[in-house]
Amino acid sequence: MEDKKAVGTATGKIILMGEHAVVYGEPALAIPFSTTKVVATITKKEGPISLDCVFYKGPLAHAPERLLGLKTIIEKIMENFDRPLKDINIKIESSIPPERGMGSSAAVAIATIRALYDYFNWSLSNDDLVRWSDISEKIIHGNPSGLDAAVIIGEESLYYIKGKPFIPFHCQLDAYLIVADTGEKGHTREAVEGVRELIQSNPDQGQAWIKELGDLANSAKTSIEENNPSLLGKLMTGAHVILDKLGVSNPTLNQLVNVALDNGALGAKLTGGGRGGCMIVLTSTKEKAKLIAGSLLDNGAKDIWIHNMGVSTNGK
Ligand code: MEV
Repeated sequence: MEDKKAVGTATGKIILMGEHAVVYGEPALAIPFSTTKVVATITKKEGPISLDCVFYKGPLAHAPERLLGLKTIIEKIMENFDRPLKDINIKIESSIPPERGMGSSAAVAIATIRALYDYFNWSLSNDDLVRWSDISEKIIHGNPSGLDAAVIIGEESLYYIKGKPFIPFHCQLDAYLIVADTGEKGHTREAVEGVRELIQSNPDQGQAWIKELGDLANSAKTSIEENNPSLLGKLMTGAHVILDKLGVSNPTLNQLVNVALDNGALGAKLTGGGRGGCMIVLTSTKEKAKLIAGSLLDNGAKDIWIHNMGVSTNGK
């Protein structure tokens, strides 16, 4: 009989609007990004649990600090089901660039949880996924809103308010979205901490900016419902300006946003934790998206994805 094997997958995510403000109870809009994904494969292997991923190959017990979130949930899940920490190998393959604001850490956790539950035939609910992935996200990000995990678990676009039930929304729009990787690591934890310090030191201004980001996310939802890409673009750029004031952007992100706008984008902003990572650009047509993508690459972007938000291509 062939040895058992179990596979768990999870997609990346893109936050359209509301990052950082979502930590303070404001709404955010995010979409799953299935062009990128994580595959976790569990196979039988005698001896202590081992891990095989791009950052580390070896016994789980000796995994480096950056994998502490993942290590912790694997150990806690096994403990929860009274299983010894042995006799499996966990291999993680990912096309989601790590630490770029595309949900890599949540996706790795979710794919691994899915694979573990499948391997041992435990029944897995969305609540289990939320609970376990939250443990890992807390270790990595400090104070996660739960948005990344929610979008990745649900695999649908969400209008998300922390602590409230997930509200799926139909994210279809006559527009294209470019996702561009600056090639620089994002710093979500530091950026979240920086926003918190800013709000503490200047509560009136800090809270006003957070509220403004929430209002922009609400207007963005309406603009999508009304299929109004030019309005959505303006709202995105508006959000970037505030995120920059909150200290979440950096010179590279600002430069790529300016390149996109100078080349006729409807709007552009950073996405996710910020201080590096990825930015997004909205364009009216695919041709425009390709042109702007070229300019972004010429100006230092390291990777580009072009996502059709819902333009009918008539089967082409
Ligand atoms: C990170 O992808 C999004 C942030 O809003 C943090 C969070 O929601 O936990 C920056």
